[in-house]
Amino acid sequence: MNNNFNWTRQLRYQAYEAWPQDYQTILKEQTARSPWRLDYHIQPPTGLLNDPNGFSFFNGKWHLFYQTYPMGAVHGLKSWYHLTSENLVDWHEEGLKLLPSTPFDSHGVYSGSALPVNDKLFLAYTGNVRDENWTRTSYQLGAWMQPDGEIVKLTNPLISEPPFGYTQEFRDPQVIFFKNEYLLLIGAQNQNEQGEILVYRSPDLDTWSYAGPLQFTQQSMGFMIECPNLVFIAGKPLLLFCPQGLVHSSLDYQNIYPNTYVIGEAYDIETNQLTRPSDLKNLDEGFDLYATQAFNAPDGRALAISWIGLPEINYPTDSFGWAHCLSIVKELTIEHGILHQRPVKEMKQLRIDSPVFLNQSTSKIDAGQNRYELNLDFKENQTGEIYLCSDSTQNNGFILSFDRSHGKMKIDRSLSGEVFAEDFGVTREFTITQEPLSLQIFVDTSVVEIFVNDGKQTASARIFPSSEQTTLWIECDEAFSGSLWKLRKMNE
Ligand code: FRU
Repeated sequence: MNNNFNWTRQLRYQAYEAWPQDYQTILKEQTARSPWRLDYHIQPPTGLLNDPNGFSFFNGKWHLFYQTYPMGAVHGLKSWYHLTSENLVDWHEEGLKLLPSTPFDSHGVYSGSALPVNDKLFLAYTGNVRDENWTRTSYQLGAWMQPDGEIVKLTNPLISEPPFGYTQEFRDPQVIFFKNEYLLLIGAQNQNEQGEILVYRSPDLDTWSYAGPLQFTQQSMGFMIECPNLVFIAGKPLLLFCPQGLVHSSLDYQNIYPNTYVIGEAYDIETNQLTRPSDLKNLDEGFDLYATQAFNAPDGRALAISWIGLPEINYPTDSFGWAHCLSIVKELTIEHGILHQRPVKEMKQLRIDSPVFLNQSTSKIDAGQNRYELNLDFKENQTGEIYLCSDSTQNNGFILSFDRSHGKMKIDRSLSGEVFAEDFGVTREFTITQEPLSLQIFVDTSVVEIFVNDGKQTASARIFPSSEQTTLWIECDEAFSGSLWKLRKMNE
């Protein structure tokens, strides 16, 4: 059904109410027939999911929203979909919560963030508006969520236009509380079509004054920066963002757009700069990670979650009327100046039964289902190949190979089922540090998340294997040790 649609702009931006009453029911059935539905990752009930939004802890629960177009696997009229959780692994669907309903967000409730203030949750987001010539106007908007989940939008924009010298590519506000005042960090494009991050300050979330572009690099950051996030880890600022059109001499990346980060020594609000910024780095070495949202949780952790999907690329689930998922939740730390991203400890709550231990140089396991966590430890200088989601022939699968003596790791999804996004390459290769290699790998039907060396690097990938591809092979030049845990489904 979805396939046969001619997704004209008119259809994509048609009001949800204008769709036939049974449309959602039929779409849900179609989505449910898809072979690649996930078991413990957040995915849309129907339609398209993109950026995580409003990740926060409020009223005794974790809250998370995501961008969605519920009518099909295309980017159309966007809203926020709401989820809550008590443990960061079992998420309860609360439904569509922030919908286009005013002249300031008529063509989409775009990305934003949340901050608990007293007994309410403040939401900051972008209202996307198009005129009859499809010219964009972007408003930075606010809303309050009550403890009972009711959301009331503010009548007037927080910021009704970009500052002088910037275009209407102006979105994705992150609201934080920093040294007794509120800040908004907003993704922007200047009139020379360069990406920047703009900062606004407010004493009360009501009146906002422009503090200028955030200083964190001497390099040009492409034509647009999306989804900026500033978090503090043991006092050090970590800036996450998505530069679009970044020149490859500034950063080695293969995805259409990278998700990147910079670590600073401090953030000085008066000069609006990250002092002593590190080089720009890729947040993930894999194929599909974007729009990461991180926040400082009240329990002291810096938590992050990402969209596993990329703009402007078709995915094999599109024909089933849905697309994309979110990553598992990760804890961010900075150790000896190096960013570590680890699965949150709550992920252990998904483990079932006891693990299968691995201790030879070759292992072949029919996992039965692609729903597991694999922990592997190799000695220094080992070389090996891991085939995830292979059939019994070992001629295919998602192949992860490493050559420790050369400090290289490669992932290859060309034989992992339905191939897609070939224009951006079917392999990724990256350098790993010289130390005994440890891998923690989460597999869930059509997504793989790899944590290398205790989270010093991560690599994420969507894959679309056939129903026969449930075997796991590990082949190594010497014995290694490992364990395989089956995982339960979310909310089970
Ligand atoms: C990033 C993004 C954001 C925007 C949202 C719209 O993926 O383009 O910049 O707010 O998606 O859905």
